[in-house]
Amino acid sequence: MTKREMKVPFGTVSITDSSKEMVKEILETKRLSSGKYVNLFEERFARLMGVKEAVAVSSGTDADILALAVLHDYGAKRDDEIIVPALSFVSTGHAVIHAGFRPVFVDVCRDTLNIDPSLIEDAITDKTRAIMPVHLMGKPAPMDAVNKIAKKHGLYVIEDAAEAHGGAYKGKPLGTLSDMGAFSLYVAHIITTAEGGIVVTDNEEFAEILRSLRSHGRACKCKECTINTSSAYCKKRFGGGMGDDIRFIFERIGYSSKMNEIEAAIGLGNMEIYDQIVAKRRSNLVYALDHFTPFKPFLKTITEEAGEKIGPHAIPIIIQEGASFSRNDLAGYLEENGIETRTIFSSMPTQCDGFSYLGYKPGQFPVAEYIGKNGLHVGVHQDLGIEEMDYVLATIKAFLEACQR
Ligand SMILES: Cc1ncc(COP(=O)(O)O)c(C=O)c1O
Repeated sequence: MTKREMKVPFGTVSITDSSKEMVKEILETKRLSSGKYVNLFEERFARLMGVKEAVAVSSGTDADILALAVLHDYGAKRDDEIIVPALSFVSTGHAVIHAGFRPVFVDVCRDTLNIDPSLIEDAITDKTRAIMPVHLMGKPAPMDAVNKIAKKHGLYVIEDAAEAHGGAYKGKPLGTLSDMGAFSLYVAHIITTAEGGIVVTDNEEFAEILRSLRSHGRACKCKECTINTSSAYCKKRFGGGMGDDIRFIFERIGYSSKMNEIEAAIGLGNMEIYDQIVAKRRSNLVYALDHFTPFKPFLKTITEEAGEKIGPHAIPIIIQEGASFSRNDLAGYLEENGIETRTIFSSMPTQCDGFSYLGYKPGQFPVAEYIGKNGLHVGVHQDLGIEEMDYVLATIKAFLEACQR
């Protein structure tokens, strides 16, 4: 067995000097709540993704929730259905419920970890309003198939792109291949604001609704708020019916989900070094995936197919059926040797108790359940390099050799 030689933490955070300066200014001027830096962050994120609009919120989960909640403005009713993959971080399913809908789960493909498009049509009913594919582990979900099915049945598509920064499909960034894309900006992600999320879209009306939703469903939803950015008098403010204050007219059921200035300042710094972060992570990920073949009988990962660019979130590892060891054996060994691991989540409907009221039964999602028991992932972040990737690969090799003895 190898000895603990190195530390390979799962994630990291890059904080630039420019972020520190902005945070200092924010604290000194006491302008903490969503204002000019959040605006700037949205503008730059939209430009980075090549879309018209980006609306920052307080978490990736809220990005999912608010994107779904937009559908209430387009005729969706409480308890209508949203199709989601059975395997994801639990917040994909939670988001559907918190947006006032019912999640309808579909199994995933073992090779891609993503929603199995051949199972989607069977899950569509009169109540279905949208499909929410997830680009799990940055691997592009089957967007051509999903969009085709959605078009045929008149459904919206919202991508859960929480783990998909830096990924692309046929040259377009993941998260921009549908009606809306919802990103997480949590610490382990490629652009972080510490906590945070952002929804991108080319639809300006969706963006207005999102701005209203994140602020209690208010009637005021300008792209740049005069009051928040410069404390100036807002000419539109008393433009409600009878001259009412539109800040206190509530047009829809909303949320309290704004991003604050300190978070935006961290994100703006991250965006300045985005290309470097993505390049470093991609180089780590591609190197690890390229060297995975010898582990194939026991361990499987994902591969990059033609037209795809995997968002470099992490290295997924699925223990194969013939292995003589469990996930805990492998994860325990890696952790003992300084390599942090995470599971690849769970089958939400059958392995997460909160969803039991929906009545799904174990065995209904065999692939998601298998990965839910046998999947883990390891970091590829920007503070790691090829040396650490070699260490991860050597540690896995030593573990497999010890298991075969
Ligand atoms: C697939 C997926 N969706 C949603 C989220 C929620 O993001 P957050 O933790 O920022 O709420 C995550 C979290 O990482 C995620 O992995």
